[in-house]
Amino acid sequence: MQRLRRLRKSALLRRTFAETRVDCGKLVYPVFVVWGENKKEAVPSMPGVFRYSVDRLGEVVDEMLAAGVAGTMLFGIPEHKDAVGSGAYADDGVVPQAIRYIKKYCAARGKELLVIADVCLCEYTSHGHCGVLERGDVENDASLPLHAKAAAAYARAGADMVAPSSMMDGVVAAIRAALDGAGFPHTPVMGYSAKFASAFYGPFRDAADSAPQEGDRKSYQMDVRNCREAMRELAADEAEGADVLMVKPALAFLDVVRAARERTDLPLAVYNVSGEYAMVKAAAERGWLDERRVVGEILTAFFRAGADLVITYHALDYAAWEREA
Ligand code: PBG
Repeated sequence: MQRLRRLRKSALLRRTFAETRVDCGKLVYPVFVVWGENKKEAVPSMPGVFRYSVDRLGEVVDEMLAAGVAGTMLFGIPEHKDAVGSGAYADDGVVPQAIRYIKKYCAARGKELLVIADVCLCEYTSHGHCGVLERGDVENDASLPLHAKAAAAYARAGADMVAPSSMMDGVVAAIRAALDGAGFPHTPVMGYSAKFASAFYGPFRDAADSAPQEGDRKSYQMDVRNCREAMRELAADEAEGADVLMVKPALAFLDVVRAARERTDLPLAVYNVSGEYAMVKAAAERGWLDERRVVGEILTAFFRAGADLVITYHALDYAAWEREA
């Protein structure tokens, strides 16, 4: 008789025949960097997540090194916002300063961490949109050179990779050309290729202070109902020279992750976004869910669906639980 239970009998058998495993070296931890000094501010809608000023980043870098994560994805909250998001592409802006600080901090300890810089304007614009506005809508082509300037500034500061998240058409090509022109032909670009206009970004917008003042992002981020269109977005980024593709959010879009995996041979990242994290934390705080088991299940699902890299706010917690186990 066929007995599927034979291989489930002991923990050793189950572990031996597990098809998927979560590797902390495949996790990326997002970090919010805020202008100023001596700041470590809690983000209320994301328990356990903080906004650090550059001088306090050492604390979270130590935690990431102890966790053995692949690296970090940086988001900046500037001193001033303006209509064209100048803070995003200033060489002395908050993200370039953070990149230089982290690189120096790690080098001094003989350690390495991948530093990925998110490239977008929404944290830097007074209106909170991801590009410059004309007649109330985001003007695609006028926004591209600003993204390109930001990417070049981050590469100059020492970023290992840049990741445009604005969903502007042609942004990967514009950034690739700028990096090549600025002497950074080896700096890879990770496209937020299929990024959906999702309500799961709510807590991030509190953390990054980046909610649009008027309107929403539906004229540039993808409609959540579309999977075939997501494949076109992935193909476009690939054709524009992206080195890594991404699907975002992750949990409600695992069908898109699976379809992407079957379409592309490029490395595929998923972004387990702020709202997905907040849901788990809120339920765990109430004692309604076993946080460790739920997070393990969620991270496993991303790899099982075909992701190569997972960007997640759970990374440090998960690594700590693994060390205890
Ligand atoms: C910026 C950006 C956002 C996120 C990553 N980059 C917010 C948005 O598009 O509104 C969301 C990340 C998260 O929710 O954790 N464009």
